[in-house]
Amino acid sequence: MNSALLPAARSAISAAPRPIVIASANGLKACARAMELMKAGSDTLDAVIAGVNINEEDPEDNSVGYGGLPNEEGVVELDASVMHGPTRRCGAVAALRNIKTPSIVARLVMEQSDHIMLVGEGALRFAKTFGFQEENLLTEKSRLAWLVWKKSLRDAGGHNNWGPGLDAPEKPPASLRRDFPGVDPEILAWAWDVAVHPPAGTINCLALNGKGEMSGVTTTSGLAWKIPGRVGDSPILGAGLWVDQDVGAAGSTGRGEENIRVAGAHTVVENMRHGMSAREACLDALKRVARNFGNDRSKLARFDLNFYALRKDGDYAGASLWNGRIRQGQLARSRFAVNDGGESRLEDCAYLLER
Ligand code: GLY
Repeated sequence: MNSALLPAARSAISAAPRPIVIASANGLKACARAMELMKAGSDTLDAVIAGVNINEEDPEDNSVGYGGLPNEEGVVELDASVMHGPTRRCGAVAALRNIKTPSIVARLVMEQSDHIMLVGEGALRFAKTFGFQEENLLTEKSRLAWLVWKKSLRDAGGHNNWGPGLDAPEKPPASLRRDFPGVDPEILAWAWDVAVHPPAGTINCLALNGKGEMSGVTTTSGLAWKIPGRVGDSPILGAGLWVDQDVGAAGSTGRGEENIRVAGAHTVVENMRHGMSAREACLDALKRVARNFGNDRSKLARFDLNFYALRKDGDYAGASLWNGRIRQGQLARSRFAVNDGGESRLEDCAYLLER
């Protein structure tokens, strides 16, 4: 035997990676479903799409699909992208209304058209061609939050037409209890929080199977209260999602505008191509985001951005601009979801800045 061949042969054996699925923190169930499907032999893209469909169909996830927070006119507009490593193909939809599962429509764009991205009315017509039925995606909870947001707005004189008048005794948030008497105080507090700090939620999910095949998906209702037609990073291939079958996959959640300005997911994958670990690759992309603000902490404090990365050899990480959010005086650490074959778990994200 030529012993010089031995190390190469060993590395070929150890190169068979352990299947793994990672996602943003709202993706514990998505990771579990994707892993279950991969174990049953599903393709990685089918697996991650089936995973995020849980969030898209869940009225309690207010950042994705049905129940997502709407635009400034109270209409839910969804963005999604998918990327399939083995075939190196991709698809996306943006500003899609009335269809719960934009990730499935994005896959249809990839599989059933010669295009990569469809938007707005065209994306809706395309979905209907394939039998999708239109539905109202605005839940009562999201409608309430939208109305609270309208009541939170003020002109330079402190006036708002969505309140009871100049001589009203109380100002929000105290007046909200009078305006919404039957509403659970916890839901009202949540609605006020999202009204004054518009979230840009989203789920990103990335998978690697035992054959080394990779895929990814990102799906979102985007920034709450956005101008109709606003498109975030999630459907922008190279920003909200990127998969390179030779290297790895990356995706993002958080304020899409800042991610687009660094072509985040592509930057993370290119960093890994040049030898960085998943963690280093994400932190480097976040440094570029900070650099766009001259590293000014007071400006950076106004948003958050997260990257998730999975290398082809199974190395993975989540990383956030900030170590977490302050909630009721406590730091809620930034986390991401992982499933490597057992129960899904949350792991701490690496971070660039501390609150
Ligand atoms: N990352 C989601 C968005 O900004 O729309």
